[in-house]
Amino acid sequence: EKGGYDHFMLKEIFEQPTTIYDCLRGRLDAAAGTITMSGIQQYADQIINANRIVIIACGTSWHAGLVAEYIIEDLCRINVEVEYASEFRYRNPVINKGDVIIAISQSGETADTLVAIESAKEKGAIILGVVNVVGSSIARASHAGAYTHAGPEIGVASTKAFTAQLTVLMMIALKVGYMKGSLSNERYRRLLNELDAVPEKAAWVLNHHEHIKAIAEKYKDARDFLYLGRGYNFAIALEGALKLKEISYIHAEGYPAAEMKHGPIALVDENLPVVFVATKDVYHEKVVSNMQEIKARKGKLLAVITEGDELSKTICDDVMIVPETDEVIAPLINVIPLQLLSYYIGVAKDCNVDMPRNLAKSVTVE
Ligand code: F6R
Repeated sequence: EKGGYDHFMLKEIFEQPTTIYDCLRGRLDAAAGTITMSGIQQYADQIINANRIVIIACGTSWHAGLVAEYIIEDLCRINVEVEYASEFRYRNPVINKGDVIIAISQSGETADTLVAIESAKEKGAIILGVVNVVGSSIARASHAGAYTHAGPEIGVASTKAFTAQLTVLMMIALKVGYMKGSLSNERYRRLLNELDAVPEKAAWVLNHHEHIKAIAEKYKDARDFLYLGRGYNFAIALEGALKLKEISYIHAEGYPAAEMKHGPIALVDENLPVVFVATKDVYHEKVVSNMQEIKARKGKLLAVITEGDELSKTICDDVMIVPETDEVIAPLINVIPLQLLSYYIGVAKDCNVDMPRNLAKSVTVE
């Protein structure tokens, strides 16, 4: 049932070109310029006119929400907040009638997320679920939503469910931005084409897995890792760090790259690998100067970079190359090399990658 792969996690990482395609199928029609999502369509007026959108999730699903915050604010010009479900539910949050809540959950059974949306619902919010497991509690508690169609995820660490969540959230942002008129027709069409091309580009990244395995071998004995990114890639830095912690038990932290000089840079020495998510986008020049700051302090410099970025390649000790895409779509591709890096480090350290210690696939207790 592992389909010839050593672990479910590896199988699920390699399934991503297919799961992303399945998620887009029947919804995105790049040639026609349409996105069909009936659950979103049903609440279109309320979403377009929402005062704010609050995204509620935990863990990796929360990271998908953080990417979505940047994209929805950019494309839809709607105020978005991303909340840890456990914090949101206990702090007597302000919820007004007409607020739109997006709950993101692979399992659809995470207790904190479920209770948070139930109480928001009582206060008059509209709840949209972005859920993988069909018929799960969070799916049922939502007014509408969109399933991620990633299929069963067996590995405890979330991989293909995360990229499917990003795919759905990107489609929602594109659809709402276009309907609202905050997104130009030209940019909308370009982003549809880029999203349509993701399965192929994800497959390209996976074809280079041997190179990432070699990088894993080189850094597997590090005690700590730092992951840095800005803008759309900030959340991917957090997700890269979380995946490494879970799978290899190496301590890792993710930060916005520019926050580094406000504290974490004190950690940098010749033993610390620092992984930048540094693909070409509006922040790129600034990210490169952040990379130079690490290099000047003798940190080991690793980065996910865009194909053809020779400058970053010369600065870094090791690079993981991804094909070029629009900056809004890039997080979806950039996370894949980081999933592979964590997997190969975990395997090199003989960890139980499919079932890391102390973790459960769905957290149905508070
Ligand atoms: C990380 C991981 C967890 C889950 C979190 C939320 O790899 O799997 O952080 O993302 O427990 O779970 P769901 O998405 O099922 O609500």
